[in-house]
Amino acid sequence: MTVSVQTAAEALTELVGAANCTVAAQDKRPYLTDYRGIFHGEAMVVVTPVSTQQVGDVVSWCYRHDVPVVPQGGNTSLMGGAVPDDTGTAVVISLRKLNRVLSVDVVNDTMTVQAGVTLAAAREAAENAQRLFPLRIGSEGSCQIGGNVSTNAGGTAVLRYGNMRDLVLGIEVVLPDGRIYSSLKGLRKDNTGYDLKQLFIGAEGTLGIVTAVVLKLAPQPRATAAAFIAVKNPHAAVALLQAAKIGSGNAVSAFELVSAPALELVLDYLGDAKSPLQHAHEWMVLMELTSGGTDEALHAALLDILELGFAEGLIEDAAIAASLADIQAFWRIREDISDAQTRAGGSIKCDVSVPISRIADFIDAASAEVLALDPEIRLVIYGHLGDGNVHFNPLRPRDQQAAEFLARHYRVVSETVDGLAHREHGSISAEHGIGVVKRDDLRKYKSEVELQLMWQVKRALDPKNLLNPGRVLPEPDDPCAIH
Ligand code: MLT
Ligand code: ZN
Repeated sequence: MTVSVQTAAEALTELVGAANCTVAAQDKRPYLTDYRGIFHGEAMVVVTPVSTQQVGDVVSWCYRHDVPVVPQGGNTSLMGGAVPDDTGTAVVISLRKLNRVLSVDVVNDTMTVQAGVTLAAAREAAENAQRLFPLRIGSEGSCQIGGNVSTNAGGTAVLRYGNMRDLVLGIEVVLPDGRIYSSLKGLRKDNTGYDLKQLFIGAEGTLGIVTAVVLKLAPQPRATAAAFIAVKNPHAAVALLQAAKIGSGNAVSAFELVSAPALELVLDYLGDAKSPLQHAHEWMVLMELTSGGTDEALHAALLDILELGFAEGLIEDAAIAASLADIQAFWRIREDISDAQTRAGGSIKCDVSVPISRIADFIDAASAEVLALDPEIRLVIYGHLGDGNVHFNPLRPRDQQAAEFLARHYRVVSETVDGLAHREHGSISAEHGIGVVKRDDLRKYKSEVELQLMWQVKRALDPKNLLNPGRVLPEPDDPCAIH
């Protein structure tokens, strides 16, 4: 069945109202391109429903008329997962108007929020209730909870609090045929069969559209201490991490690796920031400790860890944050590396994870292989060493254009880095998801049985393949093998 733009616009306007239904090209534009301007698509109509029921009505209409649906949150995906393809046949459903914090239960330590609440607003709502919502990622001002859930977002606090998957207790989802599955329970124990909510977390909108969730809150830490530390190499960083976890009584809340090219790039981008360290070093770590104790005790623990690190030859230098402003300045440097890369252009983003015990060897091996291609490639390596996830992002040599660099090296670099991670029993997408970018690579890195299971789940829930089609799942080699 082919539906015309006019038919779709009229029917959807009827369901959500003219103010929530966009057909004009210039108004649709922000929804058809990702925030980095890399992925572009087309859509018949963009709708911005104001209730779960409206989302259900729109999806139900699309199901009955065989119209593909692309759900969209803050559109900050790095993998092209939230932008429609270029056929112009889809309806984009933006969740941005489902932006209410529905309730905060301070006794249960939970918060119920709609999908379109930004991560920053969710964190603020928790803070207003003297609680912490611990998910922390650089795009918090734009990314939305529904997108965080759908991509199982990670970020800088995973080593302490887990991924989004660990922070969701209840969920409300619009299914591909428009039915609403609502289980907004704030339970930490519920063994009543399959944990259905987990199916939708990390599914990138291919199995249903998340409209609301119950989030787990944590007590706010009372004390925070941070240091920007020059380490000898990634092996030393891993040894320091172990010492810090033990020495602080498990108070490490972030442990972020930064390579020299990553620091140079971000300082150049920021313009007004300078390195916390006096001299240049090859490798650095931003370590943060938080606890429910006193600032004095936490600072003493930090000093002990640094002293041990110096004594064991792991650390070359360290800057300790003397104030909240210092801590914020450290984080600004770390969190803006991603934007610095976007501006520089010509980055090959590899978001890999391996067991922490293997990460230093992995970095050595991947660095050697990439530099063998061209020693002028800048190894922008940074990220969440504390949970085994690094962003290993080779950047074009200074005198090479982005297009030339990517044409020459994109495929071989991604295959090399992902292949090495896979050999270390790692993941080729630790936290950014699959979208369209890594979809076909799954064929190589998932077993046949895994891919068959993924398709069986997809077909059971979305038999017409209408929800975010072409994302996450590679076309099966043998469609008959999937029943
Ligand atoms: C980060 O850790 O900064 C984010 O995952 C974003 C990125 O790597 O580009
Ligand atoms: Zn990251």
